[in-house]
Amino acid sequence: MSARIIPVQPFDYVVFGATGDLTKRKLIPALYHRFLDGQFDERSHIIGVSRTKLNDADFQKFAREAVTEFVQKDYQDKKTIDKFVSCFSYLANDVTDKSGWADLDSKLRSDPEIVRAFYLAVAPSLFGPICAYLDEKGYWRRDARVVVEKPLGNDLESSMEINDSISEVFAEDQVYRIDHYLGKETVQNLLALRFGNVLFEPIWDAAHIDHVQITVAEEVGAGTRGYYDESGALRDMVQNHLMQLLCLVAMEPPASDDANALRDEKLKVLRSLKPITGDAVSRMTVRGQYRGGAVNGGSVASYQDELPDDKKGSKTETFVAIKAEVENWRWAGVPFYLRTGKRLATRVSEIVIQFRAIPHSIFDHAEGAPKPNKLVIRLQPDEGVKLFLMIKDPGPGGMRLREVPLNLSFAETFSERTPEAYERLLLDVVRGNQTLFMRRDELEEAWKWVDPIRNAWDNASDAPQAYTAGTWGPTASVALIERDGRTWHEGDD
Ligand code: BG6
Repeated sequence: MSARIIPVQPFDYVVFGATGDLTKRKLIPALYHRFLDGQFDERSHIIGVSRTKLNDADFQKFAREAVTEFVQKDYQDKKTIDKFVSCFSYLANDVTDKSGWADLDSKLRSDPEIVRAFYLAVAPSLFGPICAYLDEKGYWRRDARVVVEKPLGNDLESSMEINDSISEVFAEDQVYRIDHYLGKETVQNLLALRFGNVLFEPIWDAAHIDHVQITVAEEVGAGTRGYYDESGALRDMVQNHLMQLLCLVAMEPPASDDANALRDEKLKVLRSLKPITGDAVSRMTVRGQYRGGAVNGGSVASYQDELPDDKKGSKTETFVAIKAEVENWRWAGVPFYLRTGKRLATRVSEIVIQFRAIPHSIFDHAEGAPKPNKLVIRLQPDEGVKLFLMIKDPGPGGMRLREVPLNLSFAETFSERTPEAYERLLLDVVRGNQTLFMRRDELEEAWKWVDPIRNAWDNASDAPQAYTAGTWGPTASVALIERDGRTWHEGDD
């Protein structure tokens, strides 16, 4: 079965922050791929807005550069690129200067059949002014959509302020909060795996699962990204990406794939998370910061060395490990170990479902004791699913048990390119499908869980534990799981 390309309705996508990094690296390349596949054509328009004084031709040049720099050469087709960039136009506008607000009237089409979407690829402090601009200028429509990205706040309070500023103009069903992890193919596959098969759901509970591990490990560093030092790994990765993954693993089957049915179930998981407060913070969490080391054969500087002078001495964490617990009937007693970090040994994101040991072994005289089954869902790279099973080693010589993976490698099974998360998400906005976007209550519930951890760290006298770049983080992270008689899943087995 090959991918089905269903064209979307023509749209006007207005991108605020049009000349920024996100637009260039992610949004334009993603839109290009959808255009190349014929999912939309020149009847759709992409209107860039930012403070920089550019004209349409300059912005088209910018779009062309984005494609040539960030789309794989095999997919760059001269004629298609020409047509694609002809969809782009530009408006220079400083939304913070009300007296000088420029008009979008000549660019935004009034035809109700043309979907209207506003992408705010800007700092959250500008969300309020942009929404006010859209409202006062009369660009708001009941069916218009607004797309926003993290950081949606630093904590619950600031997140509520940001959401309030958006909701002064847009209703919740018009707001698309991006967590790009939800757009990743394998993350959506988690839903297919759980709810498209009869095999897993009956054993997806505390009676059969010993624990769950969610790892998002990166090789890249962070010290040169200004925003990161304000945020740290807890806010940058755990509050959103890791907690969303946890929700998808732990949620009850929704009644349908309706956006709210799914988000209701995720919300219940977030509400069931056992708060980590007081003394529990030091027992259940580990934070680290990398020192110099070697990643992928090349030596790299420490986080501190990457920081500008005025930030030196920063206690921002570049690594987090947390033992989380979901307090409900399905998951009572099953720890969810989360960990994420920069400058780790390798780039890998995966979810490991570690099943319980068999209740009784009949293989007392066999070579090799039966190991508990394990399901490894690899989100990136080398997307795929491995189910580790015990089998008998073939041939004579008695019963020798061996653990072997049933290996579903997406690269080997499917010939198509794996689309980038933004391709799916950008067009879901056009389709009006909010399933893979975070609802306000989910976001706020996630902050409620993360804030006490953050506060305890901020008030602690100690600093994050140092770890050498190119390793799996501080030794305390190993201790966090080994104390419970378990180990982190690392490598291919
Ligand atoms: C972003 C974080 O949300 O996700 C980055 O801000 C991180 O710090 C990135 O590097 C990871 O995304 P991906 O898709 O490369 O795993």
